[in-house]
Amino acid sequence: MVKVLAVLYSGGKAAQEESRLFGTIENRLGFGDWLESEGHEFIVTDDKEGPNSVFQQHIVDADILVTTPFHPAYVTKEIIAKAKNLKLAVTAGVGSDHVDLNAANERKITVAEVSGSNVVSVAEHVVMTMLVLVRNFVPAHEQIIAHDWNVAQIARNAFDIEGKTIGTIGAGRIGYRVLQRLEAFNPKELLWFDYTDLPADAAAAIKARRVATLDELLSTCDVITVNCPLHEGTKGLIDEKAIAKMKKGAWLVNTARGAIVKREAVVAALESGHLAGYGGDVWDVQPAPKDHPWRDMRNPLGGGNAMVAHYSGTTLDAQIRYANGAKDIIKRYLAGQAQDPANVIVENGGYATRAYGQRK
Ligand code: NAI
Repeated sequence: MVKVLAVLYSGGKAAQEESRLFGTIENRLGFGDWLESEGHEFIVTDDKEGPNSVFQQHIVDADILVTTPFHPAYVTKEIIAKAKNLKLAVTAGVGSDHVDLNAANERKITVAEVSGSNVVSVAEHVVMTMLVLVRNFVPAHEQIIAHDWNVAQIARNAFDIEGKTIGTIGAGRIGYRVLQRLEAFNPKELLWFDYTDLPADAAAAIKARRVATLDELLSTCDVITVNCPLHEGTKGLIDEKAIAKMKKGAWLVNTARGAIVKREAVVAALESGHLAGYGGDVWDVQPAPKDHPWRDMRNPLGGGNAMVAHYSGTTLDAQIRYANGAKDIIKRYLAGQAQDPANVIVENGGYATRAYGQRK
């Protein structure tokens, strides 16, 4: 018998009414009954902050931890030191930066995620956010809700995606899918920056140019999307200096991780008009506090904010995929079988993927 601890988000009334909200404490990733019928203990909570939280109480003897990026339990070095029995940390979703991966390596804990499970969901959200920003949708909609009608006030800051230069930082599963989808909009040029090359057939299948440096991407693009993981090399990557290299009036979309961009740098750039817009669903701490400045920052014309709660990768379509994927990872562990290599982030004391930094 093993003890499995899952930290999920609370779904409340929505989860009672919608059983496909698998990522919630109420619906227990859809496999709670299975796990218990196999004789295992399954503790599920959304209480994750502080030493008296259910998370910290149960981490001390859990064998397997399941977390999600949407309501991240921060698995710090100190938590790992407390987690004496922990052998497997599963991310139900994609993005395991909330786990201290170096500390996991020291203890030879395997960290696995459900790679690919929500990459289409995020890529769609990225394209949507670009459209929302570039076309100045949010103030246009707010105007209607306010029972107002002023075309010029909206149109003075509305543009087309067609003809723009658009680039992605990171051309992995999500970045690549964003490029694929953007082709249909006839951009001037699509660019990507990544230290990992694309397979030759994948590179040939899209009309996008690889740039050699981040600076080239920053200074050339009208719209930039961030699609790399958060790690030592990307924390605060988009700071005041990086934003200053971007074109005046550019738009920035970040659905990767909040801490890749510097909070205050984004606020200052949007409020000065250097950035025309910033949007995404990831925050440097989640849930975002009520007074987080990204909630109500705006550009000088009153728009440019397309922030939402972290949900791009947790559509109902995505939830079934990451719930099933998390179950498969646990099943393999319990059966003593190898994990699907695509899902493994760290294992046996080392990184199993190149996505979390350029390592030898
Ligand atoms: P992936 O592993 O397929 O691709 C990531 C790419 O980023 C890799 O090609 C890697 O080489 C590249 N990269 C890493 N560091 C870089 C750097 N400094 N500069 C340029 N490129 C760099 O990952 P995938 O599936 O595309 O996901 C990317 C990230 O998106 C995840 O790590 C996660 O943080 C975020 N994500 C967000 C979701 C949401 O709901 N908002 C859902 C799923 C993922």
